[in-house]
Amino acid sequence: MIAANIPTLPPGDSPDLILVPATPEERITSIKLNSIAWKGLLDINTYIEREDHLFSQKLTRNGLTCWILVDKSEPEGERTILSSCETYQKKALLAHSGKVEDVSTHGIGSVYSRPEFRGKGYAKRMLEELSVKLDTWKMEKETRSRSLFTVLFSDIGKNFYAQFGWMPFLSSHIDLPPLAKQRLSNGAAAKERETRDLLAQDVQTCICNEVVINKLRDRLRDASLSSTGSKIAIMPDFDHFVWHWAREEFFAKRLMPQHSPPVIKGAGNDQARVYCSWTRNFGEAPEDKVLYILRWVYDDPTSAEEEQNLVEAMAAILRRAQQEADEWKLSKVEFWNPTPLLQKAVAMLDSDARVVHREKSSISSLRWTGAEQGLGDDVEWFLNEKYTWC
Ligand SMILES: CC(C)(COP(=O)(O)OP(=O)(O)OC[C@H]1O[C@@H](n2cnc3c(N)ncnc32)[C@H](O)[C@@H]1OP(=O)(O)O)[C@@H](O)C(=O)NCCC(=O)NCCS
Repeated sequence: MIAANIPTLPPGDSPDLILVPATPEERITSIKLNSIAWKGLLDINTYIEREDHLFSQKLTRNGLTCWILVDKSEPEGERTILSSCETYQKKALLAHSGKVEDVSTHGIGSVYSRPEFRGKGYAKRMLEELSVKLDTWKMEKETRSRSLFTVLFSDIGKNFYAQFGWMPFLSSHIDLPPLAKQRLSNGAAAKERETRDLLAQDVQTCICNEVVINKLRDRLRDASLSSTGSKIAIMPDFDHFVWHWAREEFFAKRLMPQHSPPVIKGAGNDQARVYCSWTRNFGEAPEDKVLYILRWVYDDPTSAEEEQNLVEAMAAILRRAQQEADEWKLSKVEFWNPTPLLQKAVAMLDSDARVVHREKSSISSLRWTGAEQGLGDDVEWFLNEKYTWC
């Protein structure tokens, strides 16, 4: 219920407060409440429709839970929502001491307290309760029956979530401006000719195939043998990409009907075997209109010549992404935690581009509870790329 019908609001540490999954009606109420923060250019009904559309995607259909902090003395259906959030169950990989396990994790999003209820300790209480709930939530069918870690992406800096155990991890990116098509030097033009656009189906074949996933398993296993601590990655499965695209497609259909649909989902070079997938974010402010590269896939080069070829192919793919950003009137291309090879590719395009270390928004944060399961305190997050965002 939207109106607070508790005569006096309970303190955040009241024993009467409980964290429960919202009923379908309460979920809609919580979406209405948080719409002032996140509906962007959508009107409220379209925002609710968008959230339902995302909810119906394969990634989230069975794994999304909307949580609400309420007073247990209020009857279901009439409860005042004091604070709310969502959790998304995701597949993940864990490697430790040379062994790779399929595990399950949760991503947390939409943490929200309505303005008039802020500063009363409700979000704090919700996250304290949530950290306990997520330990076993939807873990009955998992081998370990308990979660090892959960993730979130803080837009309010590094300290708030750290109080509850979600520690900040590397949160850097490079951005590049949009670029109109232009005449290129001979070398660059040749690489551009080799670059091909990827449709959704191509992303599935080139980025989400079994060979790529098996290479990831090997990489995690090798890393867990050559250094101490556990290694984890959120499974970069096709469902993640489809979920991100459901967002851009919904927006484009509703607010840009004159534009042809956003069917180009990435770019790649088959000779150099490098591919990336992207999604378009249509935010309100210019800085929120971004072509995000969700994930890069390539093999490490084994010779200087191979490296040169790969870096040139990456540069041509990035140029293609810049053109796509221009086509959709987005303000930049952005990709997270660039590897040294990608930094070399960027330097070929723009000698002024720099790696930005974010301090406030999209801080990749991970809460590790593996120590309780004998896995030690150290954990390394592999593939900390934009596809993991929720
Ligand atoms: C962020 C938000 C959920 C906090 O809710 P809240 O119920 O007011 O938080 P609490 O009262 O439980 O605050 C707990 C502690 O965190 C601190 N805190 C609250 N908001 C904070 C913020 N934006 N940044 C840093 N610290 C914050 C409080 O000062 C308090 O510290 P204290 O225990 O030392 O007093 C709320 O401000 C909100 O909904 N904002 C808009 C949506 C948003 O940005 N959500 C986060 C997305 S990642």
